[in-house]
Amino acid sequence: MENNNYLEITDLSVAYGGIQAVKNISLSVPKGKIVTLIGSNGAGKSTTLRTIAGVVKPKSGSIKFDGQEICGKTPDSIVSMGITLVPEGRRVFDNLTVLENLKIGAYVHKHKLDEDLALVYDLFPRLKEREWQYAGTLSGGEQQMLAVGRALMSRPKLLMMDEPSLGLAPLIVKDIFNIIKTINEEEGITILLIEQNANMALKTADWGYVIETGEITMQGTGSELLANESIKEAYLGKRKE
Ligand SMILES: Nc1ncnc2c1ncn2[C@@H]1O[C@H](COP(=O)(O)OP(=O)(O)O)[C@@H](O)[C@H]1O
Ligand SMILES: [Mg+2]
Repeated sequence: MENNNYLEITDLSVAYGGIQAVKNISLSVPKGKIVTLIGSNGAGKSTTLRTIAGVVKPKSGSIKFDGQEICGKTPDSIVSMGITLVPEGRRVFDNLTVLENLKIGAYVHKHKLDEDLALVYDLFPRLKEREWQYAGTLSGGEQQMLAVGRALMSRPKLLMMDEPSLGLAPLIVKDIFNIIKTINEEEGITILLIEQNANMALKTADWGYVIETGEITMQGTGSELLANESIKEAYLGKRKE
């Protein structure tokens, strides 16, 4: 892989009390690329993203962003540096409108609010149409778009997404992945995507890592991993149900 690693994780370990959730993982995300981390439920994917975001403190290891160590920084300062997480489960504020939800995402630099809103509405015309609708009344797919739109309001350099396709109908999942591609290609935003939906994630990503019980067990280009027999068996629904 290229040397211009934007995000560089080295020997990262994270534990919750006695439970070692992430064991000595190293991974990197080059600038301008889409990297995916795939793995089954409980493998340590969310823990990895939450540690990068500063929400969980690691036991050991290093996380560098654009050459700077970010381990130990507060979640707020990590957002200010340009890293934003779209958390699992489309956490939008149900009792606020679409517009109010988006404004909350802009807390880092409110002065460019109109420009940021224009960008989000350009990517998601459906959010513009529903500007005054309460977020709690949106469909699952629309809520996911809102969660991504809100993250974009902070103008991230690195956007991290925690299972954006979870619980969505296949057609909506396709929309979400198309949007991820567009955000990457047209806005130049680097993306770290974690997914149980290995098929779509590997088709979309430039590079993929496989995490199993807290350890990185494989890595390669999306197409290499898609063609791999053990990945097909474990993650692509080719096993006997
Ligand atoms: N807040 C927590 N407290 C204790 N254990 C946790 C916590 N969050 C996750 N874990 C455990 O850490 C492991 C990894 O979880 P997680 O990172 O959420 O996996 P994934 O996102 O891949 O499904 C699991 O064994 C899970 O039970
Ligand atoms: Mg998770």
